[in-house]
Amino acid sequence: MLLEDKKLLITGILTDDSIAWHAARIAQEEGAEVVATGFGRGLRLTERSVQRLPNPCSVLELDINDPDQVAALVADLTDRWGRIDGALHAIAFAPEDALGGNFLNTPPESAQTAFMTSAFSYKTLAVALLPLMDAAGGGALVTLDFDNSQAWPAYDWMGVAKSALQSVTRYLARDLGPHGIRVNAVSAGPLSTVAAKSIPGFDAFDRVWKVRAPLSWDGTNPDPVARMICVLLSDWAPMTSGEVVHVDGGFHAMATGVGET
Ligand SMILES: NC(=O)c1ccc[n+]([C@@H]2O[C@H](COP(=O)([O-])OP(=O)(O)OC[C@H]3O[C@@H](n4cnc5c(N)ncnc54)[C@H](O)[C@@H]3O)[C@@H](O)[C@H]2O)c1
Repeated sequence: MLLEDKKLLITGILTDDSIAWHAARIAQEEGAEVVATGFGRGLRLTERSVQRLPNPCSVLELDINDPDQVAALVADLTDRWGRIDGALHAIAFAPEDALGGNFLNTPPESAQTAFMTSAFSYKTLAVALLPLMDAAGGGALVTLDFDNSQAWPAYDWMGVAKSALQSVTRYLARDLGPHGIRVNAVSAGPLSTVAAKSIPGFDAFDRVWKVRAPLSWDGTNPDPVARMICVLLSDWAPMTSGEVVHVDGGFHAMATGVGET
């Protein structure tokens, strides 16, 4: 099995639509032991969602911006496992006034919140887990990106935060490579989740994906994205780091779709 005996931390499970939920499901089917994290008022929902995994797992509380909760998470994982082989960072948030076409009027605090929670937090998680990954002799970190090499309608400061997240991925790869830790991002096409629905006009992305992506795209099927996350967490990508792997039906490589011309 792809992830036999791997001990993995999966952040970002809210509902069973969450990309992280599907990554956890496939990771368990492939032999991994998983601990999930839940955040704030969503914690109870996370606890209910993990009951629907093949092996209902523990949920630890984690606000990635709260150093006490980060320390408590590490203490728990140290007692529980004493090592960790990999983690999924599936965390993003931008305040309402940082999204939806309000780009020119977004206050700096809101842009900063989007950056801290959606990009800087990958560094926070990586540094916190470093001793546990050192104890495992190395490992793999994966985050979730939405390609922002071009400007989108509505995505605004979340898009800027995603560009920063790609850059954070490369710097983490530089600094954690000598520890035997691979650091990558999966750039996913649009998927119907709570986070996606909170972005005004997100359905427009789904429509353009369907006509432009050469492999087409089903925004209700997170499996291809979840599978790539599991590959990058496994030993089957041993020399891949600092990479942004697109799982978007080929959309990013097309200037326009055949159906659009
Ligand atoms: N859905 C898409 O179309 C899509 C596409 C590309 C990338 N992504 C990215 O995938 C990741 C997961 O999102 P999703 O679409 O599965 O939606 P989701 O709403 O299911 O997950 C977002 C998660 O972020 C967590 N979170 C927010 N603030 C947090 C904090 N301060 N501390 C800890 N956790 C916090 C939430 O609890 C939630 O579990 C995000 O980074 C998102 O930007 C989503």
